[in-house]
Amino acid sequence: MRPVYLDNNATTRPDPDAVAAMLPYLAEHFGNPSSAHAFGAASREGMRKAREQVAALIGARAGDEIVFTSGGTEGDNTAIHAGLAANPGRNEIVVSAVEHPAILTLVKRLESEGRIKAHVVPVLPCGCLDRERYRAALSERVALVSIMWANNETGIVFPVEALAEEAKAVGAVFHTDAVQAAGRAPIALAGGAIDLLSLSAHKLHGPKGIGALYVRRGVKLTPLIAGGKQERARRAGTENVPGIVGFGKAAEIAARRMRGDAARMRSLRDRLESGILGRVRDAAALGAAAERQPNTSAIVFAEAEAEAVATLLAREAIAVSTGAACSAGSAAPSHVLAAMKIAMAEKFGAVRFSLSRDTDDDDVDRVLAVLPDIVAGLRPAAPAPRRREVAYA
Ligand SMILES: Cc1ncc(COP(=O)(O)O)c(C=O)c1O
Repeated sequence: MRPVYLDNNATTRPDPDAVAAMLPYLAEHFGNPSSAHAFGAASREGMRKAREQVAALIGARAGDEIVFTSGGTEGDNTAIHAGLAANPGRNEIVVSAVEHPAILTLVKRLESEGRIKAHVVPVLPCGCLDRERYRAALSERVALVSIMWANNETGIVFPVEALAEEAKAVGAVFHTDAVQAAGRAPIALAGGAIDLLSLSAHKLHGPKGIGALYVRRGVKLTPLIAGGKQERARRAGTENVPGIVGFGKAAEIAARRMRGDAARMRSLRDRLESGILGRVRDAAALGAAAERQPNTSAIVFAEAEAEAVATLLAREAIAVSTGAACSAGSAAPSHVLAAMKIAMAEKFGAVRFSLSRDTDDDDVDRVLAVLPDIVAGLRPAAPAPRRREVAYA
């Protein structure tokens, strides 16, 4: 049975062209990009091209606004420290309640160490940010605001440009985690208010362990770890040149194909979602009324645990996820579902179907063929109709 992969918010299949672009940098172009000789120059040239490709994907003005990192987590951590360092007289941070653990864990740690005061802005049951509470949290004490572009569990998109304008009005640095958005939705940063933006290659058909932080010109970035002067003294450590080259190629492909891929994913996602909701009673798609990424559908099934649904789908060679892959397997309920305060989702969890440009009609049909029986089998049997008492005269 051909496996069906619908867990693309966890990671995507590396594009064969991105893999092919990396191979020479794993073998013959092995020079250290900091070396002055020809071996170093070959690696530097690969990185220069990749920097331009990544900058083009997000509409950055120039390659020097791109700092390569080890992935989204490092980008997020760097951004938080950079925001605090850029505003030394301020010690407050504003984040949403549904940020990735790469943001929330660090913010909570800094708060417990007494180094910052955190404002965790709630979301409404639609999954949208509570804009009133957001505005109320902003003040001239805020050093940094970090609100994600799109949520990994629900695909809900936040109006980051508008949020950045409001943050800038009080002089805060604005960071967005665009790990789930880049390559799936157009991003045009030039001239906007966003200061810092995290990316991760493996979510856009590139390799794992490589990402980037966009740093708007004029924003000072203090490196997270001390060391050499790589990346213009903004990220120490010898660069992962093959990863960077693969990331660049993946970014170039994503930019070229984005419009068509997004439209195709949206129509497959919509067919999958309406097919499920039409065939399975008492099911709901989270955030369906909000603006969402074209590839994500998180569905709650009343009286059927999401974990159990995912396990039974896996037996049919269908890979999905419940909540974020990083926290899947932990008994704690997803913080994203808890933040949305939808009782049914908190109780049963949500099954996340996340598509990619590799997804096709057969994948959708396979899910629709098996899911209704899986959910029905998990639900408690309907009570037998009560025998009517018939009185005989
Ligand atoms: C929204 C978001 N931010 C950050 C990350 C972490 O990225 P990475 O795996 O590259 O460290 C992820 C990965 O799941 C994510 O979905």
